[in-house]
Amino acid sequence: MLHIEPKDVTVPEFHKLLLGGVAPRPIALVSTLSKDGRPNLSPYSFFNAFGANPPIIAFSPARRGRDASLKDTYNNLIDTKECVVQAVTYSMVEQISLASSEYPSDVDEFIKSGLTPIKSDIVKPYRVEESPFQMECKLLEIKSYGEKGGSANLAVCEVLKLHIKNEVMKDGNIEPNLIDLVARMSANYYCRANGESIFVVEKPGSNIGVGFDNIPEFIKHSEIYSANDLAKFAGISSIPTIEEVKKFKTELEKESFQINLSLEKDFFEYQNLNDYKRMLKISLLLLSKNKDDKKYLEYTAKCALQNNDKEFAWKTALLQNII
Ligand SMILES: Cc1cc2nc3c(=O)[nH]c(=O)nc-3n(C[C@H](O)[C@H](O)[C@H](O)COP(=O)(O)O)c2cc1C
Repeated sequence: MLHIEPKDVTVPEFHKLLLGGVAPRPIALVSTLSKDGRPNLSPYSFFNAFGANPPIIAFSPARRGRDASLKDTYNNLIDTKECVVQAVTYSMVEQISLASSEYPSDVDEFIKSGLTPIKSDIVKPYRVEESPFQMECKLLEIKSYGEKGGSANLAVCEVLKLHIKNEVMKDGNIEPNLIDLVARMSANYYCRANGESIFVVEKPGSNIGVGFDNIPEFIKHSEIYSANDLAKFAGISSIPTIEEVKKFKTELEKESFQINLSLEKDFFEYQNLNDYKRMLKISLLLLSKNKDDKKYLEYTAKCALQNNDKEFAWKTALLQNII
């Protein structure tokens, strides 16, 4: 492992490493007006939301690394106390990158980037038409942490009004694949939140998991379960009893079942189909031939976990104890 304190390296080096690990970061596309009414538009990825009542967001127009000077967004916020912050989608990422160029203060980045200004309802700065998610905001405070190159200026804002395009909505929620957001990583890397990079992790909610410490050793030491699989096992609120596992086995054995190819081939066909119930039927047949071949039960439990059927996974894993 590397062990680094800020004093050990240069500021740009620390900055680079910091941003490699604090990633991916959402991007705020911040629209402001100067005190004499000139529009300004710049992206900021030191950005997040911090509460909903009242709705609070914050971003940091830091001092320039080069000469510690203040950015136009910072100066405009101090002067006018208003901004519009929009989400950045894949379709506009090159334009927001262009808007990040260090244009002189009197240059309007809406014009340079080709993004379209539209009037806001409450604040004076313009909204960006291309973004499907726009927040009209008032500045609550700016907290500065130093006056050197790279020093943070945390601009904390209250969201006064949200504008969301209908086409990114589904059943009352913003659908991640429809909004197609991008995030900033380190150096020139970005990432796109869509397709296979979006996945579901069930919230524990009121369900209190039994924890890793209650997982039997033979499950913990399996070579087939990953750490994520074990965490799903640990997330069940109570482990099935041996009686429940026996009942589960008896009920499964009652169902008739046809083999199409060979036992092993059918097993992996059903794995591809996420049909863990049929996988288990075949596992039991395979185990009746070779009692040591427990891996099929483990693959079956793993498949059930991947489909968030923790109860089935536990019962399958525990079958090892009664066979
Ligand atoms: C995706 C992206 C994210 C950025 N995030 C930040 C940031 O969080 N803080 C910052 O000070 N500069 C950030 N920058 C650089 C500013 O956008 C850049 O300095 C810009 O010229 C500032 O414009 P302004 O002086 O008009 O406010 C970022 C640039 C890009 C492309």
